[in-house]
Amino acid sequence: MARMAEAEHGHPLFRQVHDYLMNRIERGEWRPHDKLPSIRLLAEELQVHRLTVFKAYRTLVDCGKVYVKDKSGYYVSPGRGDAEVADEGAAVATYSLTNALSDIQRLPVNYQFSQALIDPGLLPNLFLSDYVKKVFDLYPKVLGTYSSVQGDVELRETLSRHFRRQHRLQLTPEELVITSGAQQAINLIADIVLGPMDAVLVERPTYSVALDIFRRAGARLVPVNITPEGYDLEEVEALMRRYRPRMFYMNPTHHNPTGVTVPAAQRKQMVELAERYRCLLVEDDPFRDMYFGAAPPPPFFAYDTEGWVVYISSFSKYVAPGLRICAVACRHPFAERLITAKSLADNGTPLLNQKIFLHYYTSPRLQQHLEKLRIALQVHKEIAEEELAGRGWEWTAPQGGLNLWVKLPETVSVDRLFARCLEESIAFVPGAICDPLGEMTSWMRLSYSFASEQVLRAGIRRLTELAREM
Ligand SMILES: Cc1ncc(COP(=O)(O)O)c(C=O)c1O
Repeated sequence: MARMAEAEHGHPLFRQVHDYLMNRIERGEWRPHDKLPSIRLLAEELQVHRLTVFKAYRTLVDCGKVYVKDKSGYYVSPGRGDAEVADEGAAVATYSLTNALSDIQRLPVNYQFSQALIDPGLLPNLFLSDYVKKVFDLYPKVLGTYSSVQGDVELRETLSRHFRRQHRLQLTPEELVITSGAQQAINLIADIVLGPMDAVLVERPTYSVALDIFRRAGARLVPVNITPEGYDLEEVEALMRRYRPRMFYMNPTHHNPTGVTVPAAQRKQMVELAERYRCLLVEDDPFRDMYFGAAPPPPFFAYDTEGWVVYISSFSKYVAPGLRICAVACRHPFAERLITAKSLADNGTPLLNQKIFLHYYTSPRLQQHLEKLRIALQVHKEIAEEELAGRGWEWTAPQGGLNLWVKLPETVSVDRLFARCLEESIAFVPGAICDPLGEMTSWMRLSYSFASEQVLRAGIRRLTELAREM
């Protein structure tokens, strides 16, 4: 039972309280020998059990940050000199600054299965230079000015028409904000919505960078299982009722890493739950156009009439990752808040990138490219599946997206396999990184989209041989 309570919070709850206190001490809010809030007060303030606070204080005592005075309470340890602590705190204090995925992706390897990106050889690189030239002809002063913070109005008009036609979204250009990739959008939304110890629902497993962003904000991660059937809506409702989360970060279409698409029937009901419990649904949808059979159901945003869904549509995956173009659809007043957050972050996505994207995106070439890309991706997926078959490894064949989420037999340690693979210049994502609980140690995410067909086949073959030898 105790295990359950902790598991529900992802990063164990007492650890989050520990990080919260540590952060405030390091920022210099409490000085050495200051008395810290009592267990009772802190439990009330953070809405957690007193035992959780007690455990957090114990870990701070164990690491020497805090000391106890009998019958009096907890105090900040003197540690190093005050000035030194304050200086360092000002420079580096933060809840948690990690990006586990980026650490893996930065490793130089020959067999790159950790990047959920498309093989640059499958992107229309040659044609893109035509559009670059066209943009400079049409807008000779394009480099001489900023974009508007919200994003180029011509691009927003085009995209609002596209979303209306393709995905049945009722949208005006004023309800779109252009960001530099979906990752920036997630970051800005976290800045707007989340404060320390706010609960955020996250899928289990999920896109690990989002987890690291929410951890940095000091949020409490509350996992929601995602399976080939989608979500258990009764479970989601119970979690919403219990934790009153500020938001649910979801990637419900060709989900990263599992490939699952949440069925249409659940989408409307989930929006109703969001309205009832005043929980913002943050729908991250970068893989929608990469399907192998039927097109996926409309986004959650299509069912929302009250402004409880924010829709993030990145074009990094199949148009041009290097342009970093993403559109965020949201209603007022959220749109204004997002524009302000964007103005603080970078004052607008580069206009040149937006214009190049616009002209390429509206060309007939894009549609031709997309159709070929879907076929090429399916071939990649099938190569990966052929190489993995017959070894007792399990996965559910995805209907779209860029990843296989693979479960290995208990006898194989994914961590050890990962270390061994790196020695042979092969990278993948160990499943624990995608799990808000840091478990799922028998799983791995294999991205089949980035390596060329030959490299993919050779690399996965070698990976499975290495697993057999262990
Ligand atoms: C679910 C999800 N969201 C967001 C991103 C980041 O997208 P972008 O490159 O547009 O920042 C990724 C990249 O892998 C992703 O898988």
